[in-house]
Amino acid sequence: MLDDMLDYLEHIRDRPVWQPMPGEVRAKFRGELPVAPSELSAVHAEFMRDILPYSIGNTHPGFMGWVHGGGNAAGMLAEMLAAGLNANLGGRDHSALEVERQIVQWMRELFGFPETASGLFVTGTSMANLIAVLVARDAALGFDVRRAGVGASKKRLTAYTSIMAHGSLRKAFDCSGLGGDALRLVPVDHRHQMNLAALKRMIESDRRGGETPFLVAGTAGTVDIGAIDDLDGLAAVAQEERLWMHVDGAYGALGILAPEIAPRLAGIQAADSLAFDFHKWGQVPYDAGFVLVRDGDLHRKAFTAPAAYLERETRGLAGGSAWPCDFGPDQSRGFRALKTWFTLKVHGLHALGESIARTCELARHLEQRVTDSAELELLAPVQLNIVCFRYRCADADRINARIVADLQESGVAAPSTTRINGDLAIRAAITNHRTNFSDIDALVDATLQLGRAMTQVAVEDPDLEVVQRD
Ligand SMILES: Cc1ncc(COP(=O)(O)O)c(C=O)c1O
Repeated sequence: MLDDMLDYLEHIRDRPVWQPMPGEVRAKFRGELPVAPSELSAVHAEFMRDILPYSIGNTHPGFMGWVHGGGNAAGMLAEMLAAGLNANLGGRDHSALEVERQIVQWMRELFGFPETASGLFVTGTSMANLIAVLVARDAALGFDVRRAGVGASKKRLTAYTSIMAHGSLRKAFDCSGLGGDALRLVPVDHRHQMNLAALKRMIESDRRGGETPFLVAGTAGTVDIGAIDDLDGLAAVAQEERLWMHVDGAYGALGILAPEIAPRLAGIQAADSLAFDFHKWGQVPYDAGFVLVRDGDLHRKAFTAPAAYLERETRGLAGGSAWPCDFGPDQSRGFRALKTWFTLKVHGLHALGESIARTCELARHLEQRVTDSAELELLAPVQLNIVCFRYRCADADRINARIVADLQESGVAAPSTTRINGDLAIRAAITNHRTNFSDIDALVDATLQLGRAMTQVAVEDPDLEVVQRD
């Protein structure tokens, strides 16, 4: 199994980025409950035949969809070790928790948070955002809200983030009981940075209307185009308005490892909470999300729940309080910290920073190829590692959606789509450390080829409306 997976990573380029799972293979996963045992080798053979070839493909250098990290072999091996230990990191006194605490300490240092800050591994930034919102909510309403519920408070809390913020923030408000509408969406400028003057006006208007503004969430690396809010400016507004400052740094926060990106994150150290993922730009295998909270005491008060069966002691295995289950909703927790610890130690922060900077260099190369071609159009300024562009033609939304699906099915490249000012864009988020210039060129060449073929055959294709290149 080890040989297979090491070979898989070593020869990943020889495979298609992705291929659809044939119906007959999919049907094998509608089988009966496995009452009788099977040989390990037989189950492994099934994995190699029916699972591995139809995986999502984000280990492949041609994968540029959504924001997916590429993983790394050291992290993969650490996952095996972690599974062998089978440690439960909800709490108690054992080595795995020291590894997690080590990473909490490193992250405090990296992001300029104080010693009193707390940190926790979670599934991903969606969960990290939720935890941050819950801590901020409880701090604003008082911790009795945990007993009495949000309905018991007369305060109507409101929060602010940009219209470009990730949907998980709205979900967090929905899950918090405050409701998605409590999260106001602030307009952005042409570079997709939150408009701070508009933010202040919205806060003022809400205060006049009897609402209680309590939180502002900036984004470090918007999901659509990779914009970074003015975090210094946001910190000033948060301080002036006495708001909790949260930063969703899902993938962008680790840009702090790249000297050319770090200055653009200035202000992140002032956040009350920060959510980010090691599984994106950090290249740690999925999943490895993380939340840092400046005031660890508030964080603990938002989640701690005494129970006789979780009694803490000063000695023995029940020692070592506070436990991670005091800082989030999970009691049973896996050893996400180990693959992160291995990745950080084996590669070192310097190399990780270089790989982050390189993905931005590749994005600039893609930007150049797009602007050099009269057939392609850049739809948004390139600020980090994300490029939004499209093939110029009539009925461009439909044609470009087809181009993306064809690219994915061709196995050459796997970008995704988004909408920029209503227009469907081919979106390449270059996150994988294995991607190089030839992969970018392959994406552009295949896009041009498909675009030309589609617009030429369109006249004969009754499925399409009139399609002609500009
Ligand atoms: C800005 C931003 N926030 C939050 C998320 C959600 O992160 P996760 O998928 O790890 O939950 C993403 C995912 O791409 C993101 O880009």
